[in-house]
Amino acid sequence: MVDVGANGFTPEITGDGSATFYSEEFGEHFHCRHGAYTDAQRNYVDAAQIPELAQAERLAILDVCYGLGYNTAAALDTIQRVNPDCRVTIRALEINGEVVRSAIANALHHPWTPATQKILTTLATEHCYHSPTLDIQLLLGDARQTLQPLAAQGWQADAILFDPFSPTRCPQLWTVEFFTLTAQCLAPGGTLATYSCAAAVRTAMGLAGLTIGSFPGAGRHWPCTIATKDQRPLPGLSQQELEHLQTRAAIPYRDPTLRATPEAIVAQREQEQQQCTWEPTGAWRRRWLTGRAS
Ligand SMILES: C[S@@+](CC[C@H](N)C(=O)[O-])C[C@H]1O[C@@H](n2cnc3c(N)ncnc32)[C@H](O)[C@@H]1O
Repeated sequence: MVDVGANGFTPEITGDGSATFYSEEFGEHFHCRHGAYTDAQRNYVDAAQIPELAQAERLAILDVCYGLGYNTAAALDTIQRVNPDCRVTIRALEINGEVVRSAIANALHHPWTPATQKILTTLATEHCYHSPTLDIQLLLGDARQTLQPLAAQGWQADAILFDPFSPTRCPQLWTVEFFTLTAQCLAPGGTLATYSCAAAVRTAMGLAGLTIGSFPGAGRHWPCTIATKDQRPLPGLSQQELEHLQTRAAIPYRDPTLRATPEAIVAQREQEQQQCTWEPTGAWRRRWLTGRAS
């Protein structure tokens, strides 16, 4: 991978003082530039209701795209604070072990509690961590493959922290088929949280059987998305967001074999967009983002 050099990744400071990396391969930062820790805590852990879920005796979490481990770390610190006796299972998916190791090598985990730092350090080298209350596994590889055995076993998470690079950069993790696989691993009553409000993503979630809601993400210009498998009421989408789902931007990414290249996934979607009669997204954008036409 382009990113993997002798020196790994170079930390860059975000708006809340926490550091992130930049991926040359994907052309994106790993976190929102307004604040990496804030993003992990507010847009993932709080949005997925981990403080409430951790009141239970047991809690299972799926961290899709572990990266520097911030979402898992924020979850562990939160659980430790609200209910240290909670028995926690975490399955974390990540394709690039060098990112995980570079975060440790650059000591990016200082704000987390010493216990959490120790867990992240162990995960970076041993890819698992066990204690009387914790069962954590870091599954290295393409999430489209590493998630399949979990789904086949019937493993289910109460909270899914869904954090790939953006759909245009990493379409393979935002397809109808990958959401269908992910939804199989969401417990009834569980919540999936993601930063993306892309119309293609929300359509794919709907086709995967998820109910979606919208919330204003901390430090983000656009709303974030939460999703469930049950019918509990979620914060609704605005009229602007609902109309976005009727434009060509809402044509979802597809990957029936869960092995297609990003280029093939994008090309197939572009072909479908050219053939469809839905409103061009530019018209929606002019209506909502440059003022309403009279
Ligand atoms: C936005 S970053 C995740 C940041 C992370 N949640 C954190 O708190 O640091 C996206 C991550 O997805 C990983 N990734 C990219 N393609 C993947 C794939 N097919 N399967 C699993 N992980 C993938 C990248 O290596 C990167 O670490």
